[in-house]
Amino acid sequence: MSEPQLLSDPFLQLPTETSVRVVWFTEFAGTSHTVTYGADFNQIATATTTKLSRTREDQNSRVGNQTQNAEVYQQPTRRDIWRHEAEVRGLTPDTRVCYRVTSVREDGKSVTSAVFSLAPKPTPGTPLKILLTSDHQLMPMVAANLQKVVEIFGRVDAVFHAGDLVNVPDRASEWFDDNRGGALFPCLQGHASYELEKNGVKTVYAGGELIQHAPMFTAIGNHEVMGRFSMENSLHHQFNDAFPRSAAQYIYTAYAKDDAIAREAWLKDNSFNTDTYEEIFSLPQSTPGGKKYYAVTFGDIRLVILYVTNFWGKPNLDASIRGRYAEAEQDLNNPEKWGYGQHIFEPIARGSEQYNWLEEELNSQEFKQAKYKVVMLHHPPHTLGGNIVPAYTDPMQIIERHADGSIKAVRYEYPKQDDYIIRDVEPLLESAGVQLVLFGHSHLWNRFISPSGMHFLETSNVGNSFGADVGDRKRPVPIGYKEEYVETGDPNGLEPVLPTIAPLIDEDGKPLPYVASNDITVFSILDTGTGTVSSYRFDTAEASEVVKFDEFKLR
Ligand SMILES: [Fe+2]
Repeated sequence: MSEPQLLSDPFLQLPTETSVRVVWFTEFAGTSHTVTYGADFNQIATATTTKLSRTREDQNSRVGNQTQNAEVYQQPTRRDIWRHEAEVRGLTPDTRVCYRVTSVREDGKSVTSAVFSLAPKPTPGTPLKILLTSDHQLMPMVAANLQKVVEIFGRVDAVFHAGDLVNVPDRASEWFDDNRGGALFPCLQGHASYELEKNGVKTVYAGGELIQHAPMFTAIGNHEVMGRFSMENSLHHQFNDAFPRSAAQYIYTAYAKDDAIAREAWLKDNSFNTDTYEEIFSLPQSTPGGKKYYAVTFGDIRLVILYVTNFWGKPNLDASIRGRYAEAEQDLNNPEKWGYGQHIFEPIARGSEQYNWLEEELNSQEFKQAKYKVVMLHHPPHTLGGNIVPAYTDPMQIIERHADGSIKAVRYEYPKQDDYIIRDVEPLLESAGVQLVLFGHSHLWNRFISPSGMHFLETSNVGNSFGADVGDRKRPVPIGYKEEYVETGDPNGLEPVLPTIAPLIDEDGKPLPYVASNDITVFSILDTGTGTVSSYRFDTAEASEVVKFDEFKLR
């Protein structure tokens, strides 16, 4: 039998004033999993082991010997992965100690990681450098991006990830070992091996050794959400098959079970879930949001993380396509095949549980006293990207019928005045004095400032770009609908801010207020010592120097 291996390096989670959790994964249950730490590694913390419940591979996985569809896996196949978590306690604030982890397999053979460093939460006043990132999804430039972060900054103190870590969350290899070299953990741990070919030159990027030493706080993006569960349909199909809970409840009432727990589990399997994401990460928790939305104090920052993301439907208006604006013609008489538009996974509208929690959080002493008030969510309040249209609101279903009563069309409208982020959340954040709102989803870099001085930053041109809808490049929007869907610019009325140091220049010599590139990758750093947010770009086609192109100060 081969030597045991770790499926990931250890990484840090959930720091407190005197402790931090160390988490890692193996493909064996093993008999003992420990963290040893301290000057002589003479202190030991024993891990608790759990098994991931939904991780699978399928015909589209790129893992092991499978380099083409269905070479190894013909359909979804369970992949056994064990997660180990040990809490290292009794730490001294602002003091780093060395650690490594050891896993012992059932046959007695063991594997030990390299040596990394851990620390509890930084005390207030400690200057911190925090990486702001999002939308990795195994995209081509992620490994290059994170490698440059480490080359420029060495270690960061934390990573804030605004969601969309992988593409299909139940596909294990996307987290751990996609054989193209760009899985999530390898990129964030310096073990990626992702080849970029630009102008005939091949470069292999390794990512950066970041989260072995620094905790990561994440927000749920649409790519953390799996749809209806199946062992037959492909994993991508299931990802794309998130069904509103209300529709699941309604359609399947006939099968509903009496037992409340069984019923809940069954409803989850027939709608959507974030189980894999929640099983992988240990995050701060809120009541009632659990890990899905929460707030945490880290150094001088109060970070509030919201669960604000909806189902992504195709913008295409082709009648045969189930999209964000209409159901497919061929499915009109089959509501089980409807997509129900861009339905929202967790309510955020005024009066919802999440909204009430947010209001309470913004009124808390911890929030009010924090030097830096930062809110992170996946969905953009302001962006030039395509994903901001239609408005972030519950889809309004309109069923058009023929004279005989049969269905002619099922369409969805999204009234702009009911955009919950703009109508309900933004005014709340403004009046609470939030300095920075971080988000992603559109895969570009751009930023905005509200009239009162609240900053909005989307630093999601990490692995690739989906472009900026400005000038002649327009969002595909439906014609003849009641609502007007905005084709270019920020539909919510702000002008993008021109980068303050070195904006990119367009063909006419004009500076661009955004970066939307598949050659140039961007990362941003929040420096709590200076109170600045700086953005850096690296041109993978030129492999030139990293350029700091924008900087702004938090009020
Ligand atoms: Fe997204």
